Amino acid sequence: MSKNYKIAVIPGDGTGPEVIREGLKVLDAASRKYGFTLEYNKYNYGGQRYIETGKVLGDRDVEGLKKYDAIYLGGIGHPDVKPGILEKGILLKLRFDLDQYINLRPVKLYDNVKTPIKNVGPEEVDFTVIRENTGGLYTGVGEFKDKGTENEVAVQSMVYSRRQVERCVRFAFEYIENLHKEKPWKGLTEKEKEDGYIGKLTLCGKTNVLTYAYDLWERVFNEVAREYDNIITDYSHVDAISIYMVENPKIFDGIVTGNMFGDIITDLAAVIQGGMGVAPSGNLNPEGVSMFEPVHGTAPAFARKGVINPVAAILTAQMMLNQLGQIEAASAIESSVKSTLKKMKSMEVGKMGLATSEVGDLIAKGI
Ligand code: IPM
Ligand code: MN
Repeated sequence: MSKNYKIAVIPGDGTGPEVIREGLKVLDAASRKYGFTLEYNKYNYGGQRYIETGKVLGDRDVEGLKKYDAIYLGGIGHPDVKPGILEKGILLKLRFDLDQYINLRPVKLYDNVKTPIKNVGPEEVDFTVIRENTGGLYTGVGEFKDKGTENEVAVQSMVYSRRQVERCVRFAFEYIENLHKEKPWKGLTEKEKEDGYIGKLTLCGKTNVLTYAYDLWERVFNEVAREYDNIITDYSHVDAISIYMVENPKIFDGIVTGNMFGDIITDLAAVIQGGMGVAPSGNLNPEGVSMFEPVHGTAPAFARKGVINPVAAILTAQMMLNQLGQIEAASAIESSVKSTLKKMKSMEVGKMGLATSEVGDLIAKGI
């Protein structure tokens, strides 16, 4: 019997529905070719629904999503809604309540994609950021003291439990080990390969200033590292890593970091890989329901014009199939994306030389 997967689809706001439409087109082509079925249920959670009904996302809504094999999301945000409401009320609520504790963000520069970094190509930009996704500054722990007065103090705490840090770090080591099981990371020296190394994991922190939170991260990282003697470990402060990512991105294989730093460095990484138009991501709960959403937002200024780049959403769908265990179908999507990229003039919105739906058509056909 062929496998059937139940997918909750949240197209969201702005250009979300347009990129999701192309993603579903490609998923359908992949499922036909590789003999599995996808059953979609659409949900209208997002800014528009909030404006019309005042509702963000309730506990019952979240419960309802738990019966799915995965969630596929376009983007949530609305220019008429005050920042914070939809982010906290929908996106972060989903990540937190479904305990999607990993935000996986592969950073690959594909052939034919322009990067603002000089003298680098696909060989030099190929790493993965493993961002902790349910803790740190995002926990929302904090307070105002004497709000609105001259003596006002605002506190926002970076909260991490050992358990949270450990499951993230362990996931990162496992991920890098699996990634290179068949073929060691290309950045290794001959000597390192002879010594049995297959990959590298860099902890990104700020141990010189955040002497509680990142002290915990560093200790846990070093403890877990002992179980993975085939992975080279490295450490970089978050400010310094921003320099290295631009100056010499080929030194990175895996980067594991906390929620806030992960948010910031993956925007930088997205630019290095050719922009928001090509950056996919997955919010993973390896033991539960994962949610796949491109790194980009809703780009409302470009909505309904057919000019937005759907490649990020399509690569996000590819990550979803990987997670569901449809490895062959996922790699077929990636190959088809690669050949379609050659037909696109640019990754930038409005400059692709093709309409949003034409990009989706080409990728679907290539499968
Ligand atoms: C991201 C986004 C979100 C985040 C926002 C929209 C809450 O920037 O997915 O990177 O900060 O995680
Ligand atoms: Mn972000």
